[in-house]
Amino acid sequence: MSSLKEATALLEQSLRTRRSLLGRTRTGVTRESLERLSQTPVAQTSQPSPGETAPRQISNLKSEMPREARLAALNEAVRACRKCEHLAAFRTQTVFGTGNPQAELMFVGEAPGADEDVQGEPFVGRAGELLTKIINAMGLTRDDVYIANVLKCRPDMPKGAPGNRPPTPLEMQRCLPYLREQIAIIQPRILVALGKTAMAGLTSTDESMSAIRGRWFTFENIPLLPTYHPSYLLRNGSNTEKRKVWEDMLLVMEKLGMPISEKQRGFFRSAS
Ligand code: URA
Repeated sequence: MSSLKEATALLEQSLRTRRSLLGRTRTGVTRESLERLSQTPVAQTSQPSPGETAPRQISNLKSEMPREARLAALNEAVRACRKCEHLAAFRTQTVFGTGNPQAELMFVGEAPGADEDVQGEPFVGRAGELLTKIINAMGLTRDDVYIANVLKCRPDMPKGAPGNRPPTPLEMQRCLPYLREQIAIIQPRILVALGKTAMAGLTSTDESMSAIRGRWFTFENIPLLPTYHPSYLLRNGSNTEKRKVWEDMLLVMEKLGMPISEKQRGFFRSAS
């Protein structure tokens, strides 16, 4: 059996275990993609020379694996993570990310809240519903884009306390390597940072969102646009604020070369 086949079998086994433990999950990995993976010819499987150990082979193998499988492997690492013991003890589960591994557009939020912690998927609560509406208004679905957070665990709260808290800089710093790797695997053409905390996690800026929204930044050479977090719009749902987020999405659509209808250009215009 080739090492690639072994890796595929291992991955499949781990996904089976995970599904039986957690129910259906959305890693984007299907039986077909695993079969495709096991049929991928290995360009070169040289024997390790003395002093050279298996990890080099694994990293060769990693770069040849489809994005789905690389994301699934990364998700396994996230699930096992206990870098922040207080978060690991508090979480129901980690919340890795969802959407299209080939996405051109990736949204980055700050951290899972209570709903996401229970469901294991980012942006499924009220803020998530609004994000889905925004994505749909762009003519896309959640399956066209990729959605993840800087933090993969729900920030812990005192027992019985309602609501959610933003992640601390240290929590974000510890978790950022996972997001960085997700972005490296997905290679989106555009990143959108949802809210000041996500933007601070990605770039260390502490400028206010009103000062930076609608301005292009970069993260690892990928254009990065900060905009208001959907929960800000839930708190302050005036047409003026909605229009600002929508104008940011028009910038994203333009940069991606997406068609924009007159109707889309006009959304919330009466407010400006
Ligand atoms: N807010 C976030 O930033 N991320 C989520 O997943 C949900 C709410």
